[in-house]
Parts: sequence; C-alpha cells; structure tokens
Amino acid sequence: MAEIRLENVGKTFKDVVVISGLDLTVRDGEFFTFLGPSGCGKSTILNLITGLEPVTSGNIYFDDILVNDLSPRDRDVAMVFQSYALYPHMTVYENIAFPLRMKKLDRETIRAEVEKAASVLGLEELLQRKPKELSGGQRQRVALGRAIVRKPKVFLMDEPLSNLDARLRVEMRAELKRLHRELKTTIVYVTHDQAEAMGLSERIAVLYRGEIQQCAPPLEIYTRPANTFVAGFIGSPSMNFFEAVVLSRKPLRADCNGMVLEPRVEKAPEADKVLLGMRPEDIRISAGRKAAAEAYVEMVELEGAAVWLDLRWRETSLKGKASVDQGIEAGDCINIELPHEKLHVFDIETGKRL
Ligand SMILES: Nc1ncnc2c1ncn2[C@@H]1O[C@H](COP(=O)(O)OP(=O)(O)OP(=O)(O)O)[C@@H](O)[C@H]1O
Ligand SMILES: [Mg+2]
Repeated sequence: MAEIRLENVGKTFKDVVVISGLDLTVRDGEFFTFLGPSGCGKSTILNLITGLEPVTSGNIYFDDILVNDLSPRDRDVAMVFQSYALYPHMTVYENIAFPLRMKKLDRETIRAEVEKAASVLGLEELLQRKPKELSGGQRQRVALGRAIVRKPKVFLMDEPLSNLDARLRVEMRAELKRLHRELKTTIVYVTHDQAEAMGLSERIAVLYRGEIQQCAPPLEIYTRPANTFVAGFIGSPSMNFFEAVVLSRKPLRADCNGMVLEPRVEKAPEADKVLLGMRPEDIRISAGRKAAAEAYVEMVELEGAAVWLDLRWRETSLKGKASVDQGIEAGDCINIELPHEKLHVFDIETGKRL
C-alpha cells in the first residue's frame, strides 16, 4: 500500500516541455485516474511514476520516501499496459506464474498464488490454455493476474481496456472495480475514455497539454467543471456553450437572444459578456408554443429511448435531448427552457468557472 506524491514535477523531451509543475497526491488505496485527450501527457506521467523515465525536475515520493533515483523494480509497482504482451508459448498458468518464478519462489507458494489470482479473476477454467485460445477480455485478465501476483504497492494501468470491444470494456470495468475493492491497493489509471474514468475512479485528474485542469471526484467534475476545457471534454454529446450579455453583476442577470437568465455564480463576472454552458440533457423541451423561447429542429438522431436534437435558437446552435415519445421531427418548432440551476457560467476571456 502506498501514497504517491508528485511535487512540482516536470518532464522535458529534448526541448519540448511535456509536463510542467505537476503537484498531486494520490491517496493510499485510492483508484485515481488521469483523463485527457491523446498526447496530453498521460503515459508520460505514468512512466515517471514507474521510473521508466526520469523526471526533469521535481520530486516523486512513495509514502514520504523519495523515489526519484529508484529503479522501477525498487519502486515496487506493477504496470499493466494497453497491449497485454502475454508470452504466446506459455499457458495462462505459466504466464501468471512468471513474475513469481523470477522471484525464485517455491512451487507450492507459486501454485497457491496463481490459483488465488485466477479465482479473483475468474480464470480457473482457463489455466491450461495458451493466449491464442483466449478472447481479448480473457487475455486482459491474464495480464492483470500477472500484475496481481506480484502484490505491488501500486498498480499503474495505461489504457488497459482500449484493445477490447465495447461490451467487453464494460465487463472489464466492473471486474477492475471489484478487484480494487478486494485488493485495496492504490491504482493509478490512465484513459482517454471519460465513461471509463467516471465509472471507475474515486478521483479524476483531467489533463490537457501536460497540466491538470481539475482534480476532483467524478460527480464534481461533471456537475462543477472548473473551466470550459473540462466542461466540454466531459459529457457526451458535449455541453452547449453560448454567450450572454451581462445586465447586472450581483446577482448575475444576463441576456441571451432576448431571454433573461439568472444563473448562480460564486464570483461576479468582470467582462460585459459571459460564456454560458448547459448540457443537452438539461435543456427542457416541450412541444407547442408559449414558453420561454422557440427553437427550430434541424436534425433528430435516435439514441434508443431518447433522441438528440440539433436545434437552432435564433443565432445560437444547441444540442438538446428529448424522449422518443415526444414525437419530435426535423422541421418542427419547439419550446426550450434553460433552467437556471443547470447553467454553468465561465469567464469569457479565461474560460474559468465563475
Ligand atoms: N520519448 C519521447 N520523446 C519525445 N517526445 C515524446 C516522447 N514521449 C512522449 N513524447 C511527447 O510527449 C507528449 C505526451 O505524450 P504521452 O505519450 O504522454 O501522451 P498520452 O496522453 O499518453 O497520449 P495517448 O492518449 O495518445 O496515449 C506527446 O506530444 C508526445 O509526442
Ligand atoms: Mg498514452
């Protein structure tokens, strides 16, 4: 078990700054996720924590022990990569046993450990198979088994589910969650898949261009995004953004297309305009006329029980969500309402939440 602390950590490749001034504590036993788009530095951070790459500046501590100069082996971490790289000529049993054989443990101890891991991961029936006789999800579980038997202080996982199809990914997500509950080991997880991050993590650090945009529990990231990057990155389809003219600062009243909105803010805006955000599912949509504003339905996309709507409200394009039963079709005019409590307000210059 270990707490991981990054103190002003920076990483530069040649002269390209990939990570700068990273401060962060991953708590003992926590499931912590780095979430961000491709190239934002997620794998680099994991490699710094593992020790596969040296830091350019700053310090990394495991339980208050400075590990900057420790080799990956001495840091006692197990890394699970995106490609699970099992040994093709070995059986599942031999693959899982491999790190224990390297440690020169005796046969009986190895057998007991492998069987325990296999039972946690539901691999008991597959121990004599070779990797090529397994599905993607089963192979991924073997790779996890190989990490588990080492009983590391920390698991580092770099997009371990990205090779799996959608259904298996969801299954393995549940598996990982159960595993974390049982082992209670610190897990640092990397993904660009927000649903995975939301479902698995106790806390998420949203990363963009090597900097943490927000570090908080999933629900807080979703309901109180710290800036427009986080707001737009989390949630699918993306949050709607639109400008409004400030009528009064405290309490905030702002005008958008003639509709006066009164969103709650912590800080009064300085500029004469604000950027407002609202998630598609938060826009209230009703047929018929008379409510706050009328929007034209440009397109309807079926999602199952719900439909996504491309709406035009005067000059503003919005994405909305309606139930199939409402029977909304392209070309319709509908009423929209923007509930004040669901509005997010951002500084128009900096994009920071107000
Ligand atoms: N060894 C290296 N030398 C030079 N640049 C590198 C090296 N490794 C990574 N980079 C650069 O650092 C940036 C971050 O890379 P990193 O692999 O950490 O991104 P990532 O967030 O894991 O992306 P992905 O989601 O695509 O895996 C990228 O711009 C990449 O090109
Ligand atoms: Mg990566």
